[in-house]
Amino acid sequence: MGEETRPKLPDRELAPDTRAVWAGEDGPTFEGATQVPIVWSAAYGYPDVDEWQEVALGRRRGHIYSRNTNPTVQAFEEKIRALEGGRSATSFATGMAAISNTLFALLRPGERVVSVRDTYGGTNRIFEEFLPRIGVEVTLCATHDHAAIEREIARGCRLAYLETPTNPTLKVLDIERLAEAAHGAGALAVVDNTFATPINQRPLDLGADLALHSATKFLGGHADVLGGAIVGDPDLVASVYHYREITGATLDPMAAYMLIRGMKTLGLRIGRQNESALRIARWLEAHPAVESVNYPGLESHPMHEVAVRQMRGFGGVLSFGLDGGFDAVRRVLPRLRLARRAANLGAVETIAGPPATTSHVECTAEQRAAMGIPEGLIRYSVGIEDAGDLIADLDQALAGA
Ligand SMILES: Cc1ncc(COP(=O)(O)O)c(C=O)c1O
Repeated sequence: MGEETRPKLPDRELAPDTRAVWAGEDGPTFEGATQVPIVWSAAYGYPDVDEWQEVALGRRRGHIYSRNTNPTVQAFEEKIRALEGGRSATSFATGMAAISNTLFALLRPGERVVSVRDTYGGTNRIFEEFLPRIGVEVTLCATHDHAAIEREIARGCRLAYLETPTNPTLKVLDIERLAEAAHGAGALAVVDNTFATPINQRPLDLGADLALHSATKFLGGHADVLGGAIVGDPDLVASVYHYREITGATLDPMAAYMLIRGMKTLGLRIGRQNESALRIARWLEAHPAVESVNYPGLESHPMHEVAVRQMRGFGGVLSFGLDGGFDAVRRVLPRLRLARRAANLGAVETIAGPPATTSHVECTAEQRAAMGIPEGLIRYSVGIEDAGDLIADLDQALAGA
């Protein structure tokens, strides 16, 4: 785990862009190498049995076995810990490993979790399929109905699980308000911060107990690595870490290195993506073939005021609905020249796709309809290309709608 006790830079005095570059970079390197080493070792040897035991019992810094901890992975954990401004962090092989390990580590049979209908499709499957199997009661509320979410939390629960902005309809939850409701009911507040990234939003500052990530997306930023992380209260992180070291959903050192490398440019990328996404969202809003645009930065967004309060930028993902439904999606997507049509987001390249083959591929058309996800929707993850070029590309593609 990335622990606050590690030698590190002073979190509070450094701007996020500086932390993205320097946090986690202060460990030992090989022969003065300036970059974090990729330590490909399954285990760590100790000729001295007493020292080995001290490390194994956690009384002395060091590593025993890479399913549990690894120096490269620890550097990644320290970087995300410093960016989220939390006291402790641990990492996972994927974002879904972060989510599933967190939920299964913290929830027991007979306990209850309150969340919303619009969570990422894989998360929704955990709520609808896997948690009920072990006797955890799940209540999913209409995402923008904060009064209903508060009522359900107040009925008693162990955990309130939030995701904001949501995937793919970009709904916004008021983290401060709902974390307060959770604490009022003696529950924990967990926030999936994948879409916003700590550059735009810091859930722990808003009262959440844990911030959670698919590092596969904006943190890595180059669509070439999978990973996950949680950051927050040390006791909570320790209990999830303990579960993960046994389930073995460990981040590997190469993936950790690639995430570290990607995160150094996080501030630059997110700044550009925030600006471009807002400009594109405004342009799409005025286009006659576009029925609706979902982006928290638009004044027309129903939770725009909350987004302004809790976010520093509105993120690189937007979605828009086409008048002609799924047939129009079929016509428009192949015409895009400057977008990968793929089940991913958060990369330097623009990526577009419908929920049916991306965020909610795990769900049936009926389940998507029940979650309020129209079949005519396109999720558009804005890359770092020139925004004018992207608008021109959308313009020619929408001519085919
Ligand atoms: C908001 C959100 N959370 C979690 C995940 C799952 O992450 P991973 O694909 O790294 O398992 C995704 C994936 O798209 C996501 O969009």
